[in-house]
Amino acid sequence: MSRVALVTGGSRGIGAAISTALKDAGYKVAATYAGNDEKAAAFTAETGIKTYKWNVGDYDACAAGVKQITDDLGPVEILVNNAGITRDAPFHKMTPQQWHECIDTNLNGVFNMTHNVWGGMRERKFGRIVTISSINGQKGQFAQANYAATKAGDIGFTKSLAQEGARAGITVNIVAPGYINTEMMSTIPEKVMNEVILPQIPVGRLGEAEEIARAVKFLVSDDAGFVTGSTLSANGGQYMS
Ligand code: CAA
Repeated sequence: MSRVALVTGGSRGIGAAISTALKDAGYKVAATYAGNDEKAAAFTAETGIKTYKWNVGDYDACAAGVKQITDDLGPVEILVNNAGITRDAPFHKMTPQQWHECIDTNLNGVFNMTHNVWGGMRERKFGRIVTISSINGQKGQFAQANYAATKAGDIGFTKSLAQEGARAGITVNIVAPGYINTEMMSTIPEKVMNEVILPQIPVGRLGEAEEIARAVKFLVSDDAGFVTGSTLSANGGQYMS
């Protein structure tokens, strides 16, 4: 029987590539999204992947959403914590709101989702959790004190849960993308992209969402049972940790 995979932020960008790759690999996939109904409907029409709308920053909404997906598809055996936002600003200009929005989605969202599937995974003695961190959680980034803090937090969270999940057959891992060719890049001024960021990437290009999806596909597979607590960097050589 094919396993059920839940991908947060799974209807756009890297998340859409992950949802599609997992569906193509034979998983039953549910994708969540927070706001863009039009994109989500188009994604479902194109791929046949069902989408569910809620804010991962809301614990009760996560609990209800996981229950709905369980009713529709079966117990969630694979969770991909992909939903993430940026609210870039140099720190002297960063507002408490920009700080809290990042924490709510990128870090509290990971707690809220993982907590709501963890018990079932422990009972069934199987689980795969992959959280999408970022190169900027590993190295820090100008104008991203908020985002980098959450993405570094995701790594500490993952290393801790990997230890707790090990004896219950649950692996917990990170994929840390570098700069990937998605809509998120459109917030970066062209001058900064061309003069600051691209020259730092040894392969000389942005990554593609499908390249991240292939890394996730490996980590959620039954074959990856001995890989846990790891951070798989996919950044074109921009940062080697
Ligand atoms: N590295 C170094 N310098 C940077 C920089 C960067 N990444 N981004 C901006 N700067 C510089 C600018 O060139 C500018 O310098 P000058 O004054 O010498 O021209 C200065 O910082 C901008 O200062 P301002 O006070 O004018 O900044 P602002 O209030 O207008 O904010 C900004 C602009 C939000 C910082 C904007 O430049 C920006 O978005 N920069 C990109 C930040 C970035 O790299 N974010 C990563 C997004 S990708 C992502 O998050 C996905 C992932 O996981 C990899």
